[in-house]
Amino acid sequence: MKSILEGRPGLKATIDQVAEVAGYLWQKGWAERNGGNITVNVTEYMDDECKALKAIAPVKQIGMTLPQLKGKYFYCKGTGKRMRDLARDPMANGSVIRICDDCASYEIIADCPVAPTSELPTHLALQNYLLETGSCYKATLHTHPIELVAMSHIQRFLKGDEMTRVLWSMIPETLAFAPLGIGIVPYALPSGIELAESTLEQIKTHDVVLWEKHGTVAVGQDIMDAFDQTDVLCKAANIYMCARNMGSEPDGMTDAAMKEVQDVFNLPKKRPC
Ligand code: 13P
Ligand code: ZN
Repeated sequence: MKSILEGRPGLKATIDQVAEVAGYLWQKGWAERNGGNITVNVTEYMDDECKALKAIAPVKQIGMTLPQLKGKYFYCKGTGKRMRDLARDPMANGSVIRICDDCASYEIIADCPVAPTSELPTHLALQNYLLETGSCYKATLHTHPIELVAMSHIQRFLKGDEMTRVLWSMIPETLAFAPLGIGIVPYALPSGIELAESTLEQIKTHDVVLWEKHGTVAVGQDIMDAFDQTDVLCKAANIYMCARNMGSEPDGMTDAAMKEVQDVFNLPKKRPC
């Protein structure tokens, strides 16, 4: 069987990068079993031959109407599929879907009829927002980063901007590379519409969203970028926990030191593109 990647180097490079990131997620211990999911907007690589491809599985409902997504194409991790398997064979552990003209349903077009992730409502709600705002961001990543999920079990970190403040104060790079900080979504049932809607609200003003007692969601220009956003914040959480393990609450950078980083590096207050 001919893969949709054949003869399309741009699409192949994008999917190769997804596979590379899936390997990192597994190596980091963020992707137990089928944990986590990835979606990338691949519409730019779809030529007339791709557009003429017939559905290879019945049309399915998204559960939301997303007007910006009409006729758009996404690579999605398959539901129940493992990141460590996806790293070896992305087209057997994910598929390319096309959003139907009603903007509320989708069909799988390639390579195999692998049903997309159960968190599709969240991924597509964010993709719809990115297109609506003219963003150049193409990728959405949900994963289970250990230290960030651990911190989400502590009520103090779920209130206001406390989690962002503590993470920023661990190392100047966190502030520099995650200048919008981390948004919190209170616990909600995985894969639901409520979770998708709350995540959408938080991603508008934050680099990464933390689902209480579950995981994170990040957006990025590509999937490596979404991974880096998550990794930068998780590194800060790891430093916090290492300091706590040494027996005391870490001092953290002072507010004045953090303000200096913000001013000197002229850090953006909103997503750059
Ligand atoms: P999927 O296997 O459906 O992608 O689900 C994994 C997950 O992390 C759900 O939150
Ligand atoms: Zn999850």
